[in-house]
Amino acid sequence: MGGKLWGGRFKTGTDKIAESFNASIHFDKRLFREDIEASMAYSRMLAKQGILSKDEAATILNALKEIYGEIERGDFTFDETLEDIHTHIERALIERIGPLGETLHTGRSRNDQIALDERLYVRNSTFRIINLIREFQSSLIGLAEKNHDLIMPGYTHLQRAQPVLLAHHLLAYYEMLKRDKERYEEALGRTNVLPLGSGALAGTTFNIDREFLSKELKMEGITANSMDAVSDRDYIVELMFISTLLMMHLSRLCEELIIWSTQEFDFIEISDAFATGSSIMPQKKNPDIPELIRGKTGRVYGNLISLLTTMKGLPLTYNKDMQEDKEPLFDTVDTVERSLTVLSGLLKEIDFKRESLKKATEKGYLVATDLADYLVSRGMTFRKAHHLVGDMILSAKEKRKELRELDLREMKRFSTLIEDDVYEWLDPISCIKRRNASGGTGPETVKKALTKAKEELHER
Ligand code: ARG
Repeated sequence: MGGKLWGGRFKTGTDKIAESFNASIHFDKRLFREDIEASMAYSRMLAKQGILSKDEAATILNALKEIYGEIERGDFTFDETLEDIHTHIERALIERIGPLGETLHTGRSRNDQIALDERLYVRNSTFRIINLIREFQSSLIGLAEKNHDLIMPGYTHLQRAQPVLLAHHLLAYYEMLKRDKERYEEALGRTNVLPLGSGALAGTTFNIDREFLSKELKMEGITANSMDAVSDRDYIVELMFISTLLMMHLSRLCEELIIWSTQEFDFIEISDAFATGSSIMPQKKNPDIPELIRGKTGRVYGNLISLLTTMKGLPLTYNKDMQEDKEPLFDTVDTVERSLTVLSGLLKEIDFKRESLKKATEKGYLVATDLADYLVSRGMTFRKAHHLVGDMILSAKEKRKELRELDLREMKRFSTLIEDDVYEWLDPISCIKRRNASGGTGPETVKKALTKAKEELHER
């Protein structure tokens, strides 16, 4: 049966279409590093346990290193008839060192092997994503610091609501990403444990040392139940779920960048390096990058649902359906890494349009809440003040004026509690300055939040 690992009990060869349908090599070859790293640790363990001699292990290790280099250089030939990455590497080993290569699989199954490869892959990807989040956060902080004194309208329902510092708005995303980062870190504790030694499903008869393997592979322990270890892919689902949250956060930021770059808002200029033009309309500068991230968020959601659906009806233990876990996993990791990287670069070069932001905060009665607060400070109940300010806005609107453009006489018609000092309350900057309670947009508070964020980023 050619190079098949399981050819023994078969009389005839595999149908060509079935063989190609069954093969996973065109996507699981991505796991070659993890597969070889795991096999190297496994051969060291077999030698330590006296199952292989030291010399035998050294020969295997050398050959595995050579195969690693060959794949990395692109000199390795992949072949669909050899099904998957595990078969390819074992075959290449046997080609190099003969029957000794056949001993590496002692006590091991492809079922615990793939579970290990994938755990290592998820772990390594998680490390990379965490670093990219950190870089992304530092781009956000850089942008916030560069524009620390800019004010802008804060929105609810996409209607101008209250003035805020731009830095405060950007720091909101810092916090979202901080939680995402924590989620990735917490998931590592569950992912980074060793399933190898579970055999096909029931464990192994050989005297292997799983704790040793776990340490060799810098994992944090071993799985407790062999059937669980070869069956579940919850660690992949978890990475995918956390990634959907992260993409949802990025997508919201992207949506804002898209809106802010319209002529209608005119808050930002996206640098030429991160925008594209139109083939027909010479004036266009399109925010393709944020749009693509918003779009790709959909496929990351889809990947999560795809794997959850694949898994939901599977009896214990391994089922071939589970081979379908890899493409969505790889796609999610690639999309997250590329999105974080490109958006981080784009952020660094965003130009905020100071005047336009300021103008937007001055029009649209964003200080109305502060006027109500002013009346409360003068002894009115908030409900009454809310109603009264509503009346004032109606009348100001009729005169096409902002609140600060009403003179004191016009104001006093609404309430005699209003005095000359009211105008100070109607200035957007003073509105912001009054909000220094923790968590608010006051300049002191935001400055502290920026300092804290920078400390957090340098902690590791
Ligand atoms: N290519 C397989 C997968 O990704 C590897 C495990 C194969 N195990 C088996 N019993 N056929 O799921």
